[in-house]
Amino acid sequence: MIDVKSLRKTYGDRTILNDVSVTFARGQVVSLIGPSGGGKSTLLRCLNGLEDFQGGEVHVGSEILHPGGAARNQRALLALRQRVGMVFQQWNLFAHRTALGNIIEAPVHVKKLRPEDATARAHELLKRVGLSHRANAYPSEMSGGEQQRVAIARALAMDPEALLLDEPTSALDPERVGEVLDVLRTLAADGLTMLVVTHEMKFAREVSHRTLVLHGGQIIEDGPPSEVLDAPKHERTRAFLGLSRT
Ligand SMILES: Nc1ncnc2c1ncn2[C@@H]1O[C@H](COP(=O)(O)OP(=O)(O)OP(=O)(O)O)[C@@H](O)[C@H]1O
Ligand SMILES: [Mg+2]
Repeated sequence: MIDVKSLRKTYGDRTILNDVSVTFARGQVVSLIGPSGGGKSTLLRCLNGLEDFQGGEVHVGSEILHPGGAARNQRALLALRQRVGMVFQQWNLFAHRTALGNIIEAPVHVKKLRPEDATARAHELLKRVGLSHRANAYPSEMSGGEQQRVAIARALAMDPEALLLDEPTSALDPERVGEVLDVLRTLAADGLTMLVVTHEMKFAREVSHRTLVLHGGQIIEDGPPSEVLDAPKHERTRAFLGLSRT
């Protein structure tokens, strides 16, 4: 459902993504790992059109993104952003809106849902992320883990076909990580397509179907998590995972 073809992304004379080709199937949960600066966030941002790129194509369902940014991809970007949800490390909720208010914002203003329908759906989503009792709380009144779960509910409110998550637990206190991973585990079991940049190897191993390692602008490993994490092909991956013999 997401098909990346020969993606090339540069910043000035630095190549960040070098001819990356990869396909994500519907219902697949993919973990994306790799050293800092390897281009993981950049790849995610290219996939939902937050970032322009210099070569290749990104196909999401029937929409195709080409190099050229908003000027060339206006229609595809509009469609694509409704099909692909994004959750960031910092949850970025609207500070002046309640949990419920945050969740109904896009369905009402972008999808033009009736407020009462959006609200009913938001309550369902809050239940799904274990936060029915926090519907009227403002972000400043919630823990990081709660805010991140609201951010996930907010992304789901647009009924995305896929969810891209960029280190969704790395800004959280250790004791709050589990509650967010539990939500992702439920979504995975429900068959949501997810691409998760993560440092949580346990999550990669236990929840994802497939693990990718991005290094030097290329995907250097792609396989079942057990294979990639226990018996990687590249010495660079072994070093990153702390498996090196030397
Ligand atoms: N707007 C920008 N302008 C110039 N260079 C950038 C920009 N954004 C990212 N980069 C560079 O692109 C490279 C890839 O960055 P990216 O954020 O995708 O890495 P990452 O794999 O997500 O790293 P981390 O694990 O630290 O989040 C880095 O070298 C970064 O400095
Ligand atoms: Mg990053």
